[in-house]
Amino acid sequence: MINAAITGVASYVPEKVLTNFDLEKIVDTNDEWIVSRTGIRERHIAAEGEASSDMSVKAIERLLEKTGVKAKEIDAIIVATVTPDMLFPSTAALIQEKIGASKAWGYDLSGACSGFLFALKSGSALVQTGHKKVIVVGVDTMSSILDYTDRNTCILFGDGAGAVLLEPTEDDRYGIIDNLLFVDGSGADALHMKAGGSRKPATHATVDAREHYLFQDGRSVFKRASLDMAKVSVDILNKNNFKAEDVAIFIPHQANKRIIDVAARRAGFTDEQVLINIDKYGNTTAGTLPLGLDEVVQENRIKDGDLVLLAAFGAGYTWGSTLLRYGPTRKA
Ligand code: ACO
Repeated sequence: MINAAITGVASYVPEKVLTNFDLEKIVDTNDEWIVSRTGIRERHIAAEGEASSDMSVKAIERLLEKTGVKAKEIDAIIVATVTPDMLFPSTAALIQEKIGASKAWGYDLSGACSGFLFALKSGSALVQTGHKKVIVVGVDTMSSILDYTDRNTCILFGDGAGAVLLEPTEDDRYGIIDNLLFVDGSGADALHMKAGGSRKPATHATVDAREHYLFQDGRSVFKRASLDMAKVSVDILNKNNFKAEDVAIFIPHQANKRIIDVAARRAGFTDEQVLINIDKYGNTTAGTLPLGLDEVVQENRIKDGDLVLLAAFGAGYTWGSTLLRYGPTRKA
């Protein structure tokens, strides 16, 4: 049976770093509150004019360099993002042109913090039905939709991009094993952007009312995220007859260190098994999981064939988990 394997990963974060101490000068907050409530110390912020396609192109260029794959070999580009450069054309189209992926088609997918898992599932389906090289990107320029007068939200997020190469394999030592993916639209009230879509097109009034920024009811989202990210992490292991100790690395979505701790504890992981980088990046929404995967590969925390568990929770609500065996790494 043909399965999709992740044969390479790369990422990019913008140069500019915004620390908690920088935020203390902008809103009524402090480093101690942010660290103790969220685990975040700093986040990277896009430069003026730097958009999601720009960050994605940087990540993909690194991916192509590492793997030795040429842009014109790519069959499809799927981009998970809630901060596309424009509502249309898709960020995938802009990336296709910038990197010269002459035969690729592609599209954007909106799954918020779970977007990368949804895009991985879509990319796997393309690989299983004949595509040879699919690039799956998770990217968000959260700074473009944050209200830097709102301390409840502006401290939480950062910008970043990650990309993986999916290729077919018939070797059962590698590839995506299973996904558990969910949406529950009753969560829409708790986490959304009010204006700028067809419901409420941009007007002077929507701008004056600051409705083009992310809105979040943090407490409601926190409760659901803690429950569901833990449950979906445990469920996928049970369903596939794996124990916590079989997993080389657990890469949870990085929205809040306390949510991560709940999931890690319920699933029975040791600290060494859990990737935590929220301190450096904050919540980069769809960028988070591929950024985390790139970090564990770069730090040699996993090798080809190792079992990796990804899990996420985000706006929608959306949530899910993916279990895979990493590699085989394609080297240039
Ligand atoms: N600095 C200082 N005080 C603050 C700050 C701040 N930056 N932000 C809020 N506070 C205050 C609040 O005003 C509140 O004060 P009050 O009690 O006088 O009203 C107090 O701190 C406590 O507020 P809570 O909301 O109870 O704080 P909590 O411990 O819940 O932490 C947080 C808030 C970090 C937002 C948390 O609720 C959270 O992480 N929520 C989930 C986030 C998440 O998972 N999002 C999903 C992914 S995002 C996506 O999909 C795009």
